[in-house]
Amino acid sequence: MNMRWPGIIETYRDFLPVTETTPVVSLQEGATPLVPAPLLAEKIAGNLSLFLKYEGLNPTGSFKDRGMTLAITKAKESGAKAVMCASTGNTSAAAAAYSARAGLQCIVLLPKGAIALGKLAQALIHGAQVIAVDGNFDQALAIAREITAAYPVTLVNSINPFRIEGQKTAAFEICDDLGAAPDFLAIPVGNAGNITAYWKGFQEYKQRGRSTSLPRLLGFQAAGSAPIVEGKIIEHPKTLATAIKIGNPASWKSAETALRESNGQIAKVTDDEIIEAYKLLAAAEGVFAEPASAASVAGVIKLGRAGFFQDIDGNVSVVCVLTGHGLKDPDRAIQCVREPVVVPPSVAAVVNELCLS
Ligand code: F0G
Repeated sequence: MNMRWPGIIETYRDFLPVTETTPVVSLQEGATPLVPAPLLAEKIAGNLSLFLKYEGLNPTGSFKDRGMTLAITKAKESGAKAVMCASTGNTSAAAAAYSARAGLQCIVLLPKGAIALGKLAQALIHGAQVIAVDGNFDQALAIAREITAAYPVTLVNSINPFRIEGQKTAAFEICDDLGAAPDFLAIPVGNAGNITAYWKGFQEYKQRGRSTSLPRLLGFQAAGSAPIVEGKIIEHPKTLATAIKIGNPASWKSAETALRESNGQIAKVTDDEIIEAYKLLAAAEGVFAEPASAASVAGVIKLGRAGFFQDIDGNVSVVCVLTGHGLKDPDRAIQCVREPVVVPPSVAAVVNELCLS
């Protein structure tokens, strides 16, 4: 029996815009674990079942692979020779990897100095043409949109509808794993493509009889970059969670629709709250996610402290989406814990340091 997972396009072919002749470009993305987080749940509320959708375990270390397998497949099918994206890092890593596999030229525009180290390394090693824009993500995206409208280059940011189509498959997996949709889905929000994709996925699965309910969506933005929460464009977004440092999300309207239709809500979490959740995830559950990912957990902790879950009768199931792997941003990890102690190379020195004597 062939047990190999073939990637999200083959697995969910019936839900995706592909035909028999579509040249599928895949790195076997998807099938990421839904990890129970009982210790964290207990800290938050007594009636909580908490799960972590660990999207950092995709081939390039983030959820972007789900969207990129389809965006690059469709670009190849249409005969494109080159693709472009603006990125806070993860989109560019995925675009570069899938383009390499497809034999397409890949151009990425990155906000200068605002990209985590691992992500920059990925775009470079996969052979993308990397251009650092001396501005922020929103400016880089505006440039990418204008260039791709004028030249024969395909835009692979989440404005490209195939990105959303691919990313919706994470919602399918959650329903398949739990046997139902969770009561709540907590998710970090940056450019707002992913919250849009999850809502589409949960709705389609229900319409097609594969699940029976819909979750309420809980979106979280970083406090210094919270345009949807504030109801206004943030000209100079700030946060250490660089992946979601976005002041004018491209999918703003569809995110608001998803929040409204799901009877959900969007709130902001401070950088301190993000780091608290980031460290707790790693130290209490053994799960290393990048800071932006921890925004979903930080938000759930905050709601728990305010009594949000306790006010609901019975058990409540919550899935937190952990969008990217912690190794993407090693600098941040080292900065927020104690660096290793240095000792001379002797047993005595180590024993002494450990206070074993
Ligand atoms: N988490 C991580 C780790 C991300 O990289 C992103 C977005 C998000 C959350 C937010 O998702 O934009 O769909 O609301 N990163 C994009 C990028 C912007 O360029 O990699 P979103």
